[in-house]
Amino acid sequence: MSDKPTLDRNLTIEAVRVTEAAAIAAADLMGRGDERAADQAAVDAMRTALNRLNMTGTVVIGEGERDEAPMLYIGEEVGNGEGPKIDIALDPLEGTTITAKGMPNGLAVLALAESGQLLNAPDVYMDKIAAGPDVPAEAIDLDIEPGQNVANVAEALGKRQGDVVACILDRPRHAELIAAVREAGARIALIGDGDVAGVMATAMPDTGIDIYLGTGGAPEGVLAAAALRCIGGHIQGRLLFRNDDERGRAAKVGVEDLNRKYQIEDLAAGDVIFAATGVTDGNMLHGVRRSGAMLSTESVAMRARTGTVRWIRMQHPIR
Ligand code: FBP
Repeated sequence: MSDKPTLDRNLTIEAVRVTEAAAIAAADLMGRGDERAADQAAVDAMRTALNRLNMTGTVVIGEGERDEAPMLYIGEEVGNGEGPKIDIALDPLEGTTITAKGMPNGLAVLALAESGQLLNAPDVYMDKIAAGPDVPAEAIDLDIEPGQNVANVAEALGKRQGDVVACILDRPRHAELIAAVREAGARIALIGDGDVAGVMATAMPDTGIDIYLGTGGAPEGVLAAAALRCIGGHIQGRLLFRNDDERGRAAKVGVEDLNRKYQIEDLAAGDVIFAATGVTDGNMLHGVRRSGAMLSTESVAMRARTGTVRWIRMQHPIR
C-alpha cells in the first residue's frame, strides 16, 4: 500500500450517501411483490448519487453486461470524472426477492477500491467458504470436507462442534452440504437470500454465525470479500460454470484459470471502502423506517486501510 491513499477518507461517508439513496428508493417498493421495480428504483437512485462523487469511477461488479443492463453495467463510467480512478463493485439491491416479499436482510451495497484491485467476476455462481477474524485463514478451505471445516472452526473458536452455527443459502443444490454440516453436529441458519450479509455475519460476533458455506453469486462474493477486508475474516471462492455461455462470460472479463481457488486478496486487494444500508430489517442493520416527516436509515461504512467501522443512523426529511 502506498503512503498517499488513493481513496480519500471522506469517500467513506460519501459511499454511505450512495447506499442510503438506493435503500430509501428501494424501501418504497418493499413488500409490493415487484422485484424488478424495487431493483430499478435502487439502481436509478444509486447511479444518480454515484455521479455526484468526485471520482473517475468504473463499475467492475454491476448490474450485468452492457447489452443486458442499461444502467450500472460492467464498464460504465460513473462519478463526476474529476477525481481519482476508482473501481466500483455495487449491488443497489442485494436481495430483490427479499425486498419484494418484505422479508429480512435486504441491503444496498457498495465497495470502492483502487483501480485494478477488484476481481472482475463474471455473473456466474461461486462456491464460497468464509469465517470471521478469530478463525485462522488456514482453518477453512473449499477443498476439505464440510465436516472438517466445521471441526476446524470449532477448535479455533474453542467451541464444541455442536455449538458452531453455519449460515447456508436455503437451496435444493445445498441438500448434501446441509446434511454434511448437520452430520458434523453443527447447527445451520438457513437464509432465503442475501449471501453478502451471510458472509459478513461470520465477522460480527453478535450474529452468532461462525462459518458461511455454499454457492451463491460470484459478484456477491467480491462484495463480501471487500467487506471482510475491512472488518477482518477470510473468504475463499471458486467460480462454477454450468455451460459454455457462462465460460464465455468468464473469458470476456479475462478469467483464464476456470478452476482457480480465489483467496480474499484475489477478490479484493489494496485499500477498500465498503458501505451498506439496510432496506429491510436484518440481523446487521435496521431497514428504512418512516416516522412522520422523517425517514430513518441505518448503515455501516468501513475502510480496509484503517480498519474503521462506522455505524451510521441517519434521519432524512421527506421532501
Ligand atoms: P439478488 O439480489 O440479485 O436477487 O441476489 C440475491 C442472492 O440471494 C445473492 O445474495 C446470492 O449470491 C444469489 O442470490 C444466489 O443465487 P440464487 O438465488 O440463484 O441461488
